[in-house]
Amino acid sequence: MPPATADRSGSAGNLHYDRLSKWFHWVTALLVLVLWLIGLGIELFPKGWLRNSVRSIHVVVGLALLALTVVRVTWRFAGARHPERPDKGLLSRLARHAHWVLLGWLGLTLLAGVLDAWVRGVPVFGWWAFTSPAPGVRWIRKAVGGVHEWLGHGLIVLASLHALAALWHHWVLRDGVLRSMLPTRSRT
Ligand code: HEM
Ligand code: HEM
Repeated sequence: MPPATADRSGSAGNLHYDRLSKWFHWVTALLVLVLWLIGLGIELFPKGWLRNSVRSIHVVVGLALLALTVVRVTWRFAGARHPERPDKGLLSRLARHAHWVLLGWLGLTLLAGVLDAWVRGVPVFGWWAFTSPAPGVRWIRKAVGGVHEWLGHGLIVLASLHALAALWHHWVLRDGVLRSMLPTRSRT
């Protein structure tokens, strides 16, 4: 374990998440943003092959993120190294719970996306198509689509608050929390 150095707040500032956890974290953040932007953009494209292709990209990237999330959660329980932080009371416990809320919300958004693709019977490029269990039942499509859409927007709001908290730690508290999730050149 690398030696811990004290920073301005007196907490250990150089304890890092392991490389794989960092990789999972930042790739997830990137893919969530990409999925949200594509999701917002789908209807801007003219109906037909172009809109179908954009929707297909959204679905394929979404399925990749779903698989990544399953591996990430497995890794978290199997061997991930997380920095040990001193328990500073209610706030630090809330922060830990907030991570689970974020991860749970991500999981719900992904599952709602799969459900959306399923009830719509979405074709994925020319390769294959989800088979809708209720073709032509508009209200189910609208309801599931609405849930997926609002979970997606909610995820962006939560992730933004989470990012603001990280920046607050970095610039105001200066306690090394953000650094613990950033890439390092040393073997940490
Ligand atoms: C964190 C991950 C995801 C985010 C943030 C996200 C976000 C969005 C957003 C904002 C929309 C637009 C909703 C609307 O205006 O109606 C959308 C639509 C959609 N999403 Fe996702 N999505 C995610 C994952 C997934 C996954 C995993 C799938 C399926 C495997 C999926 C399938 C769909 C489908 C089928 C639509 C409807 C497309 C259309 O309007 O024709 N999404 N998504
Ligand atoms: C959709 C985007 C994001 C999601 C879903 C997300 C999720 C998470 C989760 C679940 C953790 C707990 C550690 C783990 O399980 O690996 C975490 C930690 C962390 N995240 Fe994010 N994150 C996102 C975006 C961001 C952004 C944009 C920033 C910075 C600007 C950030 C900074 C951090 C930091 C510094 C930690 C470590 C916090 C600590 O140890 O107390 N995250 N994130």
